[in-house]
Amino acid sequence: MSYQFMEPFTFKNGVTLKNRMVMAPTTTMSSFYDGQVTNDEIAFYGARAGGVGMIVGEVANVIASGKGFEGELSIASDDDIAGLSRLASAMKANGTKAVLQIFHAGRKSNDRILRGQQPVSASAVKAVFPEDSQEPRALTAAEIDEIIAAFGDATRRAIAAGFDGVELHGANTYLLQQFFSPNSNRRTDKWGGDRDARMGFAKAVIASTQAAIDQFADRPFLLGYRLSPEEIETPGIRLDDSLAFVDMLGESPVDYLHVSMGSAHRTSLNDKSDHMPILTQIKDRLAGRKPLIGVGSVETPQDAEDVLALGTDLVAMGREMIREPQWVEKVLDHDEASLRYQLSPSEMDELRIPRAMQAYLKGAFYSVMHFTTDPNTAADYQNAAAPMEGFEKKM
Ligand SMILES: Cc1cc2nc3c(=O)[nH]c(=O)nc-3n(C[C@H](O)[C@H](O)[C@H](O)COP(=O)(O)O)c2cc1C
Repeated sequence: MSYQFMEPFTFKNGVTLKNRMVMAPTTTMSSFYDGQVTNDEIAFYGARAGGVGMIVGEVANVIASGKGFEGELSIASDDDIAGLSRLASAMKANGTKAVLQIFHAGRKSNDRILRGQQPVSASAVKAVFPEDSQEPRALTAAEIDEIIAAFGDATRRAIAAGFDGVELHGANTYLLQQFFSPNSNRRTDKWGGDRDARMGFAKAVIASTQAAIDQFADRPFLLGYRLSPEEIETPGIRLDDSLAFVDMLGESPVDYLHVSMGSAHRTSLNDKSDHMPILTQIKDRLAGRKPLIGVGSVETPQDAEDVLALGTDLVAMGREMIREPQWVEKVLDHDEASLRYQLSPSEMDELRIPRAMQAYLKGAFYSVMHFTTDPNTAADYQNAAAPMEGFEKKM
């Protein structure tokens, strides 16, 4: 059986992936307290490198105020580069390309994680989800400039560490999304206002990262952008807003778009009369300007083919790569019968899943990981938001 997802893919900047399968960013929460890479993370990615064309590594904060959870990776200091180099090498085994996701969590943090500091955001508006969110402080204009510059510095460090690219985490209700959202951005200066004005922060971050690439990269280096297509709060981002955002990205220097959803076939969460898959609408709006990564509930080889059939160029898997590190290798070996679609709690050490990650997979993610011990293991995200997208109840 020859699958389309096994075909190589070349980005416009010349980076070639050996196949169209991507490991989606799945945070391990296993960095040291100060964000340095641990051996647990090296083992987790090392076990998953080599088959997929590209790994998008878990999210790293670009500045201390951007830390969103304990055990989060940091790319905020030059001291992080040595550990990040080991991480990049582990991911790049046997020709897999390594991209690191970078972000600022904004209001999706709290004063415990920030060691006593109040979280910051575009405006002083508390998130609706989770219910115990803290009210953030509105960033000053100078702080906004500092964060934009920090994205550039982080990109310089990713280049020095040997990654093949960075992905801006503009999804899952973190700071980039908070500036675009009419819910969290009520600013009256140049960073707020109408839809175009609310794109200003993302545009400035893209420009800052691209400038770092132009200045420091001695090889083709990818710049990706991950977005969430809708919010469910009112006011909030609607699909029409995201399609306008996609237009902006289409004209920007980014090399690819990545749409964060729990099901790649999702239709609008807000407009139930709209039956066209969101990915198809985004693909149409892009009109060939940028490649598109689809993600969400891909498990079987046929699932991956179906996501390409929606019009995407690449297919990412998150949970399935946690359960089955050798997915691509097994498909190549005609050994599909041994693909794991369930996760046994007893096999998590063998699968090189760090202990901190095991704990949260068995906790907040239990109902969606397809645990062998879960009687409702067939549960799926279907047409609802997945954990991590920002609508979750208390985690
Ligand atoms: C344990 C776990 C950790 C995740 N961490 C991240 C992350 O760091 N950044 C991100 O953009 N998405 C993150 N996600 C979302 C995934 O990238 C993906 O979009 C989602 O799980 C849907 O894909 P799947 O059905 O293949 O798992 C995470 C998901 C899981 C299950």
